Amino acid sequence: MTSLLRRRARTENADAPVISMVDVGMTYPNGKVALADVNVEIGRGDFVFLVGPSGAGKSTFIRLLIREQLPTTGQVQVAGRDLLHMRRGQVPGLRRRIGIVFQDFRLLPNKTVWENVAFALDVTGTAGTATRQRVPQLLNLVGLHEHAHHLPTQLSGGEQQRTAIARALVHDPAILIADEPTGNLDPVTSWEIIQLLIQINELGTTVLMATHNQEIVNAMRRRVLALEGGHLVRDESAAAYEREY
Ligand SMILES: Nc1ncnc2c1ncn2[C@@H]1O[C@H](COP(=O)(O)OP(=O)(O)O)[C@@H](O)[C@H]1O
Ligand SMILES: [Mg+2]
Repeated sequence: MTSLLRRRARTENADAPVISMVDVGMTYPNGKVALADVNVEIGRGDFVFLVGPSGAGKSTFIRLLIREQLPTTGQVQVAGRDLLHMRRGQVPGLRRRIGIVFQDFRLLPNKTVWENVAFALDVTGTAGTATRQRVPQLLNLVGLHEHAHHLPTQLSGGEQQRTAIARALVHDPAILIADEPTGNLDPVTSWEIIQLLIQINELGTTVLMATHNQEIVNAMRRRVLALEGGHLVRDESAAAYEREY
């Protein structure tokens, strides 16, 4: 299990930040300024909460990292790649270095837990033997081995999110990004998901979690990046949800 999340692309410098934004601004075509003057670095192995009220720019920040959108100004680097000067053909390689989970799970409804995870390997041409080895490792990690042949409708919300997390980890990404992963879950289940994210982080994966769950952020005391109206208003280690001074 220790080697499960430890393969790393050889091209990536272990000392370089895994995420870097320099003077980043993002204005949507309708003129809405979603991010402005954002400067931030996230180091390899960090666990970071991205907080802020609804509309603050958290999801936009994440869309820039996965290159779903390009910034209007500034530079974004992820896992050693310059996202602005990247060729189209290099985007799939970037996406494999980033695992992502969402509030609404986004599982394929007609596929079982096993198939949802295996599908992410199939689409990148992974051999069947490698898939048959990898999927059970991931299902063990997220505690879903016994649910391997269940459909999403036969799972609780927490189990669906665990499936999504297993799927996000199939390519052993450098970064796991979670956009409000506990937004649809009750408090007890939310805690279980946080514990899983912590465990994944301890195995070596950088974790960035956008949330407005104050209780969780206050209890965990991790690095907090706070957005307000598109501005990064706070970047503090071992922090609480709200400024404490
Ligand atoms: N596709 C879009 N077009 C125009 N405005 C958008 C779009 N997506 C988000 N916004 C706006 O950008 C701002 C930031 O949104 P978002 O990044 O989703 O914030 P958060 O995730 O913190 O709630 C909000 O004012 C939102 O309405
Ligand atoms: Mg959002």
